[in-house]
Amino acid sequence: MRPLVGSLLVRGIGVLVTNKPELGSGPLGVMRDVDLVVEDGTVVWIGSAGSPPAADEVLEAAGRCVVPGFVDSHTHLVFAGDRSEEFTARMAGTRYNAGGIAATVAATRSAPSSLLTETAARLKREAETQGTTTLETKSGYGLTVYDESRCLEVAGTVAEEVTYLGAHVVAPEFRGRDEDYVALVTGAMLDACAPKARWCDVFCEKGAFGPEAAREILQAGLDRGLGLRVHANQLSHGAGVQLAVEMGAASADHCTHLDGADVDALAGSDTVATLLPGAEFSTRSPYPDARRLLDSGVTVALATDCNPGTSYTTSMPFVIALAVREMHMTPDEALFAATAGGARALRRDDLGVLAPGFRGDLVVLDAPSAAHLAYRPGVNLVAAVVRAGLLLG
Ligand code: NIG
Ligand code: FE
Repeated sequence: MRPLVGSLLVRGIGVLVTNKPELGSGPLGVMRDVDLVVEDGTVVWIGSAGSPPAADEVLEAAGRCVVPGFVDSHTHLVFAGDRSEEFTARMAGTRYNAGGIAATVAATRSAPSSLLTETAARLKREAETQGTTTLETKSGYGLTVYDESRCLEVAGTVAEEVTYLGAHVVAPEFRGRDEDYVALVTGAMLDACAPKARWCDVFCEKGAFGPEAAREILQAGLDRGLGLRVHANQLSHGAGVQLAVEMGAASADHCTHLDGADVDALAGSDTVATLLPGAEFSTRSPYPDARRLLDSGVTVALATDCNPGTSYTTSMPFVIALAVREMHMTPDEALFAATAGGARALRRDDLGVLAPGFRGDLVVLDAPSAAHLAYRPGVNLVAAVVRAGLLLG
């Protein structure tokens, strides 16, 4: 990504959420009536309104609230096809069981890369207009060496964080030969995919990959220099979270079915619990126990999980609203999890905070406070989005 060469002054910020408690009041370090300057992509100055250094361009905040850009640390944007009928059936009572992944795999395999790129780019634009400034996205709907590899190429055109998810489910043509598929995922497929990704992920779940296979796949990724993330404990209680912690994964994602030992393991580790309440919303399932995680000291991130099966939304404000209403997170906790939490889940120390030295990623909200993100659900409050000092849109 090319940062702005030059400087941008954001003038007249009424309320600035910095996510750095030392800089202001409360846990989010809120400052009032300030100006902010981004130079060559990085925040270089924050100070009282009215006396900023000169800058090449000016963005008028006009007394509104400014928050760090959202970090969506878990999406699946590379796919083809539509599963709205599956969603409709679910709303009429059919349970989600991950069987629909096969439909997306078939559609993705037969789609040209140009179509996959167009769809992913459209979803990226959609996310940006709702304040997302950093995206992670994955493969996982190709499941052949060729298709996983081209899906990662497409992923790299839209996301700055790219994850290899050859271990989404066992490819249909390998049904009953799970070990052969694991050998492919850890062998020729990894050879083709590792150079195109920073992360390796596995769906550790009954009907996808059990703990032994998941460990083997994660170890193979680690041996290739990839960082680890795990789809863990989404549909049932299992070994995913413990495995993620044990193997030093940056993030255990979903965390819907946890016991005390899982919470303790997360609390004593650097593994972030990434909660994806869009998936519980769209599968009409019980939400993760965010309060228990937060009250135990676990670092929590919020992300959309945007995918055609369980959570077809790109909206971080929607996820924040769900987290507050359905998971009892405070508006401050939800905003932190959607920004600094996501940055930690991606092990990025340049994102998620608005302070000198951090990337100039910010959102001007058409609102007097960030609580409006949850207080005004379904309303796009995003007035302007800046990434690395560059005004988007
Ligand atoms: O994160 N759990 C695995 N993968 C996706 C759903 C995939 C699908 O149904 O297409 C998820 O929820
Ligand atoms: Fe996912």
